[in-house]
Amino acid sequence: MALLTDIGTLALRALPPEMSHSVALNLLRNGFVPGAYVPPPPSLYVQICRIKFPSPLGLAAGFDKDAVALAGLYQLGFGFVEAGTVTPRPQAGNPRPRLFRLAADGALINSMGFNSGGLDTFARNVAHARESSLITGPLGVNIGANRDTEDFIADYVAGLERVAPLADYVTLNLSSPNTPGLRSLQEGEALRCLLGRMAETAAVLEKSPPLFIKLAPELSGAALAKCVAAAREFDVAGLILCNTTTARPATLRAPARSEQGGLSGAPLREPALAMMREIHNLTEGRLPLIGVGGIASAEDAYVRIRTGASLVQVYTGFIYHGPRLISDIHSGLAARLKADGFANIADAVGADA
Ligand SMILES: Cc1cc2nc3c(=O)[nH]c(=O)nc-3n(C[C@H](O)[C@H](O)[C@H](O)COP(=O)(O)O)c2cc1C
Repeated sequence: MALLTDIGTLALRALPPEMSHSVALNLLRNGFVPGAYVPPPPSLYVQICRIKFPSPLGLAAGFDKDAVALAGLYQLGFGFVEAGTVTPRPQAGNPRPRLFRLAADGALINSMGFNSGGLDTFARNVAHARESSLITGPLGVNIGANRDTEDFIADYVAGLERVAPLADYVTLNLSSPNTPGLRSLQEGEALRCLLGRMAETAAVLEKSPPLFIKLAPELSGAALAKCVAAAREFDVAGLILCNTTTARPATLRAPARSEQGGLSGAPLREPALAMMREIHNLTEGRLPLIGVGGIASAEDAYVRIRTGASLVQVYTGFIYHGPRLISDIHSGLAARLKADGFANIADAVGADA
């Protein structure tokens, strides 16, 4: 079965990138899940913000933007899934082509631009999956703003109100490089204003799930310190680091390296790790951190956890390695915990700090 799965992953690679993504999503949505569900080793169980995660390995936002394939994604073995980014109103996103493989670099560049079916469709899909008991692990919902909105903050308020009853945690995506102006919400007064409105909104909700903020890798130094201070002031549950980068390292070799958009995958590994180190220091390990960016092996995941990540996510690594990456990371993490004398994941978080 592992061989068939690998052949399927290679076959998908032969298709143009966005078509391959749609085919994979459709297969998962229609129940074509390679192999039987294998529960993660018990030592990988971890509890964050009172949410019980069977494993710290999740699927990052952007793969299942409209929450159409949740059942299949949990069935593959992910410890949690972050669906979205969902925008309040449906929007098509940027013109195609907007997704490029940089196979020689183990990377992708995307300028999707929040293609989204909108909150109504998203909420219907999640409600249906919940009613049918297809959501078998924690669900994060990542919310964003419409490109043509007159008020970014109003879009996040609308998103939070709508997805709060459906989600185990909610992520404010403030870091997509493909919606002009969005990233300015991470900084200074704009962030405090946004978080103030989120707190007001949450205060009157019947159920208000923990809020995470997803940050851009370009944020550093004083701007990052202010952002962390605001997160603490407004009781943000945790931070997700990081989104794709607009930087283009000189080492990139693939012909698509100069395409517009956010770069993800292997070239993001070091910057994302450095950001994890910086934020873990700034927060003295007191704020849960989700590490994402260039994780493509058990070793990558373990290093990120030892640097301060309570949970990790994958996107580009999953595209290149396919579902086998999930079981490889699970078994590799369990082996590394054992070899280093840790009883569970929580004991390894920040061990290198
Ligand atoms: C095609 C594509 C679409 C993405 N869409 C989103 C999105 O809608 N919301 C979001 O927060 N991040 C999005 N991301 C960013 C990923 O969630 C992740 O933060 C980033 O790719 C770094 O992780 P990786 O190196 O494992 O891919 C997207 C990434 C890719 C490659």
